[in-house]
Amino acid sequence: LNINEAKPLGYPIPANVYAETVVSVKHYTDRLFSFRITRPQSLRFRSGEFVMIGLPNAEKPVFRAYSVASPNWDEELEFFSIKVPDGPLTSELQKIQPGDTVLMRQKSTGTLVVDALTPAKRLFMISTGTGIAPFASLLRDPETYEKFDQVILTHTCRDIAELAYGRELYDALDNDPLIGELTGGRVTLYSTTTREPSDFMGRITALIGSGKFYADLGIEKLDPETDRVMICGSMDMLKDVKELVESLGFAEGSLSHPGSFVVERAFVG
Ligand code: A2P
Repeated sequence: LNINEAKPLGYPIPANVYAETVVSVKHYTDRLFSFRITRPQSLRFRSGEFVMIGLPNAEKPVFRAYSVASPNWDEELEFFSIKVPDGPLTSELQKIQPGDTVLMRQKSTGTLVVDALTPAKRLFMISTGTGIAPFASLLRDPETYEKFDQVILTHTCRDIAELAYGRELYDALDNDPLIGELTGGRVTLYSTTTREPSDFMGRITALIGSGKFYADLGIEKLDPETDRVMICGSMDMLKDVKELVESLGFAEGSLSHPGSFVVERAFVG
């Protein structure tokens, strides 16, 4: 298959929208898949930001927010998606094949960027489900390692199969030709499940709250003096983790006022 021969579009491409070609698709479970598309030459984005993705299957296509999972130096764009059986976008998006066309609005944005945090020793990335996607981008960006000595990524899913994307990401880091030199020994992955037995079980909020998280990793407790936190997951998860870090003295940051933590909702349907 020649990916340059994209299938003809049935509908005109809306203004300010790129039409890109699917390069590869990987299904992890009946609820999760990742895909890579060609990258428009003119697209600039910060690692950790999201774009709006749609399909050319209607006059007015449905667009949904997707964190870019690839770093900003990558020639392709990677995304990690949930499949919602009756979801207006994902019910169709989950069927894409290499060569198909995916639409993308031309602007990227988002709060999970290193420039919204002040420098510190450790960066904690707290994620559930597809909320790991922006961290997949940031973990492959040299800037992350310029600003922080240690990165601790937590990923919580219902079962073990849903943890595979994060596991693969982590396993590939040290051998990455571009980023491998920087990551050696500086990244920790803490994967937990809530509905299937595994080595580490429970919601991250409970594990931090009880102190088991620190004991499991043998690390110092979260401290706004030395640490920064990025949070990405469902609305409920964001609320609970935000409350938790605020109770520990962390203050929310933004590009105009960098702080000690940032949050963003993961794409959910
Ligand atoms: P749980 O199984 O206890 O609901 P989902 O697949 O529904 O998006 O959830 C992804 C993961 O996030 C699940 O392991 C789920 O745990 C966990 N989770 C859901 N709500 C919260 C919350 N408020 N705080 C922390 N973790 C949560």
